Amino acid sequence: MCGIVGYVGEKPAAPILIDSLKKLEYRGYDSAGICVLNDSLKTYKTTGKIVDLESILPQGIEGTIGIGHTRWATHGKPNTVNSHPHLSRDIAVVHNGIIENYLELKENLIGDGYIFKSETDTEVIAHLLHSHLYGGSDGQSKKCDLITAVQKTLRMLEGSYAIAVLCGSEPGLMIIARKDSPLVVGIGDGEIFAASDVTSFLQHTRNVVFVDDNEVALIRNGSVEFFDADGNPVTKETTKIEWDIEAAEKAGYEHFMLKEIHEQASSVHDTFAGKISEMEGTVILDELNISDEQIRHMSRIEIIACGTSWNAGLVGKYLFEQLAGIHTDVDTGSEFRYGYPVVCGEVLTIAITQSGETADTLAAVRGARSYGCQAIAITNVVGSTITREIDSVLYTRAGPEIGVAATKSFTTQLITLYMLALKFARIRGKMSAEDSKNLLVALKKIPADIQKILNNKAVIQECARQFADAEDYFFIGRHLNYPIALEGALKLKEISYIHAEGYAAGELKHGPLALLTDKTPVVAIATKGHTYDKMLSNIKEVKARDAIVIAVANKDDTEIEKYVDVVLRIPRTHELLSPILSSVVLQLLAYYTALERGCSIDKPRNLAKSVTVE
Ligand code: M6R
Repeated sequence: MCGIVGYVGEKPAAPILIDSLKKLEYRGYDSAGICVLNDSLKTYKTTGKIVDLESILPQGIEGTIGIGHTRWATHGKPNTVNSHPHLSRDIAVVHNGIIENYLELKENLIGDGYIFKSETDTEVIAHLLHSHLYGGSDGQSKKCDLITAVQKTLRMLEGSYAIAVLCGSEPGLMIIARKDSPLVVGIGDGEIFAASDVTSFLQHTRNVVFVDDNEVALIRNGSVEFFDADGNPVTKETTKIEWDIEAAEKAGYEHFMLKEIHEQASSVHDTFAGKISEMEGTVILDELNISDEQIRHMSRIEIIACGTSWNAGLVGKYLFEQLAGIHTDVDTGSEFRYGYPVVCGEVLTIAITQSGETADTLAAVRGARSYGCQAIAITNVVGSTITREIDSVLYTRAGPEIGVAATKSFTTQLITLYMLALKFARIRGKMSAEDSKNLLVALKKIPADIQKILNNKAVIQECARQFADAEDYFFIGRHLNYPIALEGALKLKEISYIHAEGYAAGELKHGPLALLTDKTPVVAIATKGHTYDKMLSNIKEVKARDAIVIAVANKDDTEIEKYVDVVLRIPRTHELLSPILSSVVLQLLAYYTALERGCSIDKPRNLAKSVTVE
């Protein structure tokens, strides 16, 4: 996840910026840079680690004001040119977030004579600022002050941002602003810090002001003034941070996994931001290198993945078959690579991998490509190995996932699969504009629905506590909820070490029912949809064997509580989308169960985040 930092004070800025960036390293990054203002802007950028950046800095950089950035690539490769700060003549900017309308803005700016050096969305901010400040690409004299230029620029941006801006002709002034991206100001003694999170300056000050959405702040002469979107002054409260550095890295959460579960409300939004039009019922995936003609003639999809990503792939199978009418197979990388697949017709391979580095997935995709299949990757890591070996890449934009248990990477993979299936369905004439509009309208509400589940997590925690001593757990679901049952079981076993099995609910009577006792919790995903009545029958079968049933059900379902022991509620959404919400419930159930059992949640025994060996 990108991180920004800023310093305005009386000490040399460069060492403070470097130190602040080091404190943000835990967020994950692929390149970094700083810009210090003395009599002019001095910018230093590189790929790699902060120590690499440090090693290219000249001795004794003068200037007591500067900005810095750690980049987690979303638009454009992780290289020096794409790393921040981005400049437009005497303007420098660092940015965390996604500018959704950057292509349109870029086109206009190019038309106005601006020359783009990078592939990033951020560079449009630098040129827009310049254009407002100087009246155009060849403007020499100022047409307004810097804050006016910032305000005019922000009004043109769609998407999310936390920015820090310097201007060569405004020595001593830094402007910061935010919308839907974290930004906090640290108040020191005659010095002010700005950053994406407090860890970056906690060694200097514990007095912080949290910047709110649509606010702009002017930092100069050891003080900071805040303004709302209309330019009215805002009085802000200072908070004293009591956390230690380790807690602050987790934003106050006890574990990265819990932090990442909470981030899903914004990460799923980032995944679809700028890619869907619910007004027209369309999905825009410009990065997809497949023609409409190829999509129409596709005879089969072969999904390859491992672990949680494989579970996401199973959801994809239901979606591609139901929405787009394309036969879809889902294989684990480790099986596909040693199999003898029959490849005939136009087969599209989709590799799903959070890290982009899983050895089995990479080997299987290489195999599929050697059979002549076109291949696309759904991944979270820009520049990872898979992105260099594939025809098209769809990034999930979840931000770095540090907990070994996949959470936000799973739900953002699901969002990507929904978008892809819907796009294919529309091109193949299998879905009406009306149906796709309804689905996209519901998709847009998913972040808010996730937030409702998070706000109500105490009920899930209590349920986890009640059954934390269980020796076995079962998870059952039908149709799209079957892979979610598999994922719920995987989450529970990997972090709580409880034996857990996921089953298609209709399969229980073919064997597993023999294992149920009055001590076995069975989590039944029983959300409203075309298999709901069948799920109720399965729940009754389970209850008849005296097992404990925990249902995941819709908020407005008053029937379910008659048949089960505990109900964990999710908001009512489009039937196809409810798996995303159920996943969040099951992640929290696993998390709180592991917490109750005192397990090592972020680093479970025997497991690695990325399995780069066979
Ligand atoms: O990086 P990938 O998505 O390729 O990783 C695949 C699996 O190793 C991964 O999903 C694993 O199953 C998760 N840690 C489970 O939470």
